[in-house]
Amino acid sequence: MKSTRKFVLDTHNNELNTVLGGGLVPGSVILLGGEPGIGKSTLLLQVALEMKHKVLYVSGEESQSQIKMRAERLSNSHSNCLILTETNTQNIFKTIQESEPDILVIDSIQTLYTSHIEASPGTVSQIKETTAELIKYAKETATPVLVIGHINKEGSIAGPKILEHMVDVVLQFEGDRNHTYRILRSQKNRFGSTAELGIYEMLSNGLREVTNPSEILISEKDSDLSGTAIAATQEGMRPLMIEIQALVSTAVYGTPQRSATGYNLKRLNMILAVLEKRAGFHLGSKDVFLNITGGIHVDDPAIDLAVVCAILSSNNDEAIPQNYCFAAEIGLAGEVRPVSRIEQRISEAEKLGFDKVFISKFNKFTNKDFGIEIIAVSKIEEIYQLLF
Ligand code: TYD
Ligand code: MG
Repeated sequence: MKSTRKFVLDTHNNELNTVLGGGLVPGSVILLGGEPGIGKSTLLLQVALEMKHKVLYVSGEESQSQIKMRAERLSNSHSNCLILTETNTQNIFKTIQESEPDILVIDSIQTLYTSHIEASPGTVSQIKETTAELIKYAKETATPVLVIGHINKEGSIAGPKILEHMVDVVLQFEGDRNHTYRILRSQKNRFGSTAELGIYEMLSNGLREVTNPSEILISEKDSDLSGTAIAATQEGMRPLMIEIQALVSTAVYGTPQRSATGYNLKRLNMILAVLEKRAGFHLGSKDVFLNITGGIHVDDPAIDLAVVCAILSSNNDEAIPQNYCFAAEIGLAGEVRPVSRIEQRISEAEKLGFDKVFISKFNKFTNKDFGIEIIAVSKIEEIYQLLF
């Protein structure tokens, strides 16, 4: 937390505090976006129940009894949380005057309407107008307001982009509904860095904060399997070890298939072309499937080397030792390129008990006393010789 911060309200949820830049700033309006079913209501209700402050949780999405049931699932202490099922803002403000909450939660902005205009809930004009009323309330009373917004198929908070400009903080809750991990990112934050992120696991009794994300993103296995490699990646400011899984097999039907989950398909095709042209691996007639475990999507180019090694491992049907990990980008000439924040990546690998980390020969760093063996390579062939 920055020392310049005068006063923030502790949400009692470390991941959320981190993403917010310390906690809830009085009078701030925070928009939490995410696809339906991802866990937005769960997250904010859980936070509302566990906070020491008095929270008014307004839902236009579910009935009182549905919310009560959810609340019982999430926590056994909810003395300070008031639940209101209401969609008209004038009625909401009436309850606010009576109960004077410290924090207001709105679930969701798409269900609200103000009597001042005639449009139906969820329309651009209603969303704009009700948000404006909430902002006015937040600023006048210094009350933090958390607003849930559903994301439409195009990936923006449904209705107007303008909403994102009106609020102080825009958070995004993401994940793959088939997996239990959820990532909370900040897209905009007037009070802190947008590089921070929070990681949760959705359990039957709510969202668990994941303090050591690396452990969960590496699948557990007893024996060495071919086709997997661990990448030392970076999500936001946080080092993260993730497992890359590749399956290379002879194409059964004419055109070989290429598919990538959690990794950019264009980049996979680029890497396969580099392997073919620059390093002489003939994968042109092979199906290649690539997967990042945990259902997360990674953009960090530093995972390239692990992608290459997972592919080569599957192609050779030879496992890479489980205590090895990788952090480097691959260039078009087949060169192994340096990546940012290499020291953080190396120390995370060391902390988690890896024995060797493969990086680019061109990566410069100052700390020389790592308790992990650092292997610097400059070309794909070199790493191939070392591994297989
Ligand atoms: P929800 O918070 O309703 O999503 P959103 O508000 O973003 O639409 O989350 C819904 C999903 O989460 C639903 O599939 C059930 C699951 N869930 C759990 O797995 N554990 C829980 O404790 C709760 C409350 C929900
Ligand atoms: Mg919901």
